[in-house]
Amino acid sequence: MEIQSIKNRFGIIGNSPALNYALQVAAQVANTDLTVMIFGESGVGKEVFSTIIHALSARKHNPFIAVNCGAIPEGTIDSELFGHEKGSFTGAVDNRKGYFETVNGGTIFLDEIGEMPMGTQARLLRVLETGEFIRVGSSKVQKTDVRVIGATNRDLLTHTQHGKFREDLYYRLNTVPIRVPSLRDRQEDIPLLFRKFCVDFSERYKTPSIQLDDEARNLLVSYPWPGNVRELKNMAEQISVLAQDKLVTAQELKRFLPDIPHASRLPMLAAPQQGSSDFASERDILYKLFFDMKKDVTELKKMFFDILQNPSLAHAAAYQEEDQDHMLHHGYAQAESGKPGNMLAPPQAIILHDHKIDHHEEVEETLSIADKEKELIVKALKKHKGKRKDAALDLGISERTLYRKLKEYNIGD
Ligand SMILES: Nc1ncnc2c1ncn2[C@@H]1O[C@H](COP(=O)(O)OP(=O)(O)OP(=O)(O)O)[C@@H](O)[C@H]1O
Ligand SMILES: [Mg+2]
Repeated sequence: MEIQSIKNRFGIIGNSPALNYALQVAAQVANTDLTVMIFGESGVGKEVFSTIIHALSARKHNPFIAVNCGAIPEGTIDSELFGHEKGSFTGAVDNRKGYFETVNGGTIFLDEIGEMPMGTQARLLRVLETGEFIRVGSSKVQKTDVRVIGATNRDLLTHTQHGKFREDLYYRLNTVPIRVPSLRDRQEDIPLLFRKFCVDFSERYKTPSIQLDDEARNLLVSYPWPGNVRELKNMAEQISVLAQDKLVTAQELKRFLPDIPHASRLPMLAAPQQGSSDFASERDILYKLFFDMKKDVTELKKMFFDILQNPSLAHAAAYQEEDQDHMLHHGYAQAESGKPGNMLAPPQAIILHDHKIDHHEEVEETLSIADKEKELIVKALKKHKGKRKDAALDLGISERTLYRKLKEYNIGD
């Protein structure tokens, strides 16, 4: 089958040599019963490749199932794959067929195969070598005819050297390796993919499709895309819905690229590095915090000295704000009595609110970075009415980091 017609049929976008080669190998191997191992980073399209191989094989009318080995608890994976006999373990109230039994004649895609427990690996090796398996708790050997496609985003060979993956299974699985390239390895495909996704989303959301200016396109291509096509697709969706202007500039695009600090708000622009996105985003949030604090402390100092020089200012301000604003009153009163004391406290609230000031907030100075960060997150969530995507965008961190922080700080909905 022509590579181009495979692309059309399965909606595969891209024309880089590495992608074309991977597709060509997939097409050639599809109609054999060989075991295939698909290697590639997260979100490159490993699962798409497995479905292509199945659909182009003689097994296409038989079942296909994708099993994420990393998502099934260790205690149940044997039973999921190979079935079990009633009473073989607590909770085994019935006989149960496993996938190797139900998918007989078809294809099983074993995603994140590097996460498979050693015991399960032994069973898998047996079924690959002899077509035989035994249900958990049974002694009856059964036969099956299943084609296995494995996938991993880790370096399985190193995993083998560390004793986490059977070497014999590694070589048995690796009969035909297919390497799906990352977006960094096929940068020429990035604008093609982005355009396709934007057109799709503009149709779905019935909005005009967005366009990138030259600088934005360069930024799009040079961004490292740790989450590959999946990340690019999500970003295209966000920007299609949220972009202010249909012609997107690099400045605007930056708002949608996680972990690249917002140039306008941060003292420093750090290019994100591969594999360090979490670290980068954590650093970013701290920079932002410090930068905002510094700005506010400077403003406060100025205010404080103004008041020292002209105490009537404090009266005027306090009086003006009295009914509405407990917090500012508090700050000025301190200044008036000549004790700077809690002068750091008010700006904490000012930073967090930008323009609005929370009237009922008790102001206690806290210098804990964790507390500040937590507050910042809570305020951002409030501001965006609980929409985590928007809050994360505003905070300049990825949604994933925000989720982690919500858990860490025990912030509920
Ligand atoms: N070349 C491509 N053209 C168009 N869409 C693609 C392409 N490659 C992948 N996609 C899309 O990207 C998304 C991610 O693909 P897929 O789930 O196959 O990745 P994966 O490698 O299995 O990811 P993970 O490692 O996270 O499991 C899917 O929505 C898929 O349709
Ligand atoms: Mg996958």
